[in-house]
Amino acid sequence: MIDLTDLSGYPLKFDTETCDVSFGPGMRMPQYSTRELDALRPVLMDPDVEGPDVIYWMYRNCGCPEDAALGEAYNLRYDISTFRSVMLGPEYMKTSGHYHPQIPGKAEAYPEVYEVLHGQALYVMQIVDDYGASPEEVVVEDVIMCRVSAGQKIIMPPGYGHVTVNELDEPLLMSNWVSNRFSSFYGSVEEARGFSWYVVNDGGKPSYLENKNYVQGVPAVRWAEVQEVPELGLTWDTPLYRACAEAPEKFEFLNDPGSYIDLIWSNLKFD
Ligand SMILES: [Fe+2]
Repeated sequence: MIDLTDLSGYPLKFDTETCDVSFGPGMRMPQYSTRELDALRPVLMDPDVEGPDVIYWMYRNCGCPEDAALGEAYNLRYDISTFRSVMLGPEYMKTSGHYHPQIPGKAEAYPEVYEVLHGQALYVMQIVDDYGASPEEVVVEDVIMCRVSAGQKIIMPPGYGHVTVNELDEPLLMSNWVSNRFSSFYGSVEEARGFSWYVVNDGGKPSYLENKNYVQGVPAVRWAEVQEVPELGLTWDTPLYRACAEAPEKFEFLNDPGSYIDLIWSNLKFD
């Protein structure tokens, strides 16, 4: 077990062998859900790969007892997720990938903010013209990839679906704050067998392959690095959990991003 308390901002331990987590006494210990290999097969380049039954674990609505009212008052939820280091055939471990719905009465979809607490994540973000369109018809308008290290935070911009990839040979632990007002959806991601770019191991290092199921073609990847956005509570020396628990008004952008679009994009610095 390694102690992540300094980075997470509350008592948290992580077993890097088993991916088990342990919260401090009194903390909400939510029932976790798992993503099984069988559930991921529809989005894999090679659906017939062999591997462990469970690929990642999701703990929804975690937190300290003194912050319990935060969710109701600000419509926010704090989750953590743990991911194995495992190859899924040629691809590195990845999540199934999903989109967030449009906010009722608003022009934008819900964004989300992630923080890496152990390991390193590669986020693949894509926006399409029509979430329900088939792989033959859907037009991928933009693809962004960004690597995020422990302590850093990244906003998934409104409208961009996202996949998390673990390219390292150690497990990944990340947290997020997100609106509690919606459920994610998959659009035509399964029909297309995943997002528009695959991240594969090529001789021991990551390589990127277009997903040819997107018949209209796919745009070149735009690579980004993350930058602090203090106005939105995102700095590298403050745990994401604490930033929101202590200044939840800074996280209004998660439920109403319209007046924060420039600040949201300032989190990503493009090459
Ligand atoms: Fe999400």
